[in-house]
Amino acid sequence: MILVLLGPPGVGKGTQGELVAGERGWRRIATGDLLRVAVRGGTELGRRAKCYMDAGELVPDELIVAMVREALAGADADGVVFDGFPRTEAQAAALDEVLDGLRRPVDRVLVFEAPEPVVVRRLSGRRSCPSCGAVYNVYLAPPREDERCERCGSELARRSDDEPETVRRRLAVYREETAPLIAYYERRGAEVLRVAADGTVEEVRCRVREALGRTGSSTAAARSRRAGHL
Ligand code: AP5
Repeated sequence: MILVLLGPPGVGKGTQGELVAGERGWRRIATGDLLRVAVRGGTELGRRAKCYMDAGELVPDELIVAMVREALAGADADGVVFDGFPRTEAQAAALDEVLDGLRRPVDRVLVFEAPEPVVVRRLSGRRSCPSCGAVYNVYLAPPREDERCERCGSELARRSDDEPETVRRRLAVYREETAPLIAYYERRGAEVLRVAADGTVEEVRCRVREALGRTGSSTAAARSRRAGHL
C-alpha cells in the first residue's frame, strides 16, 4: 500500500501517520521530520532548508525530491506512508515517476480535514522532544511531567514555525500549493478519502482504520484505474 496523507498544518498527519505505520509495520516518510533532522545536523540541505521553514514557506521542490528519492532507496516495506509529501504538483509528478519505476502506484490518499481554529490551537500547544522526536500537546495531550519528554526525559521545545504569524503563512501555503493535489490524485485515479480530523486522537485513529479497512478490491480497482494513465 502506498498511502499519501494530505491536510493542513496541525491537522494530525504526523500523529496518525505514526500510528498507521506502527500498527502495520509500514515505512513512514515524513519530509518535515527529515528536514528538521538535517537542520539539527547542520548539513548542507539543513542550512538551505532552514530559512524557508522558519518563514513557513515550502522548501524548493528539487531539494525535497532528492531527499525523498534517497529516503526511498532500499525501502522494501509492504507499505509506505508519505506524510507532508507531496506538497506541490511538481512533487506529486516526481513521486509518480519514482513509483512508476517500482511499478507501485499511489493506492490511497487520506485527506485530513478540521476547522481552522482547531488546527491553530493544536499548533499553539504542540511541544516536541528535540532528542527523540516525540510529540505532545500542552492543552490536548500533555506529558506527565511538565515540559519533559516521557520517553527520554529531555526538555520539550516549541517548533520555531509554530509561532502564530508563521502558522498563518503555512495555512495559506497549504491552500495555495497543496490543497490542489486532492484534485490531482482524483484525476490520476487514486482512491481519495476524506477523514474528519477533529475529535480525539483515538476517534480519528478509528476513522483512519475504517478508511484503510476497505483495502483489497478497492486497491486493485485503484491500480487498474491508474494503469489506464500509464
Ligand atoms: P511539516 O513538519 O510537514 O509540517 P506540517 O505539514 O505543517 O504539519 P505539522 O507537522 O505542523 O502538523 P501535523 O498535521 O503533522 O500534525 P501533528 O500530528 O504534529 O513541515 C514543516 C515545514 O517543512 C514546512 O512548512 C516546509 O517549510 C517544510 N516542508 C516539509 N515538507 C515539505 C515538502 N514536501 N515540500 C516543501 N517543504 C516542505 O499534530 C499537531 C499537534 O496536535 C500535536 O501537538 C499533536 O499532539 C496534536 N494532535 C494531533 N492530533 C490530535 C487530536 N486528534 N486531538 C488533539 N490533539 C491532537
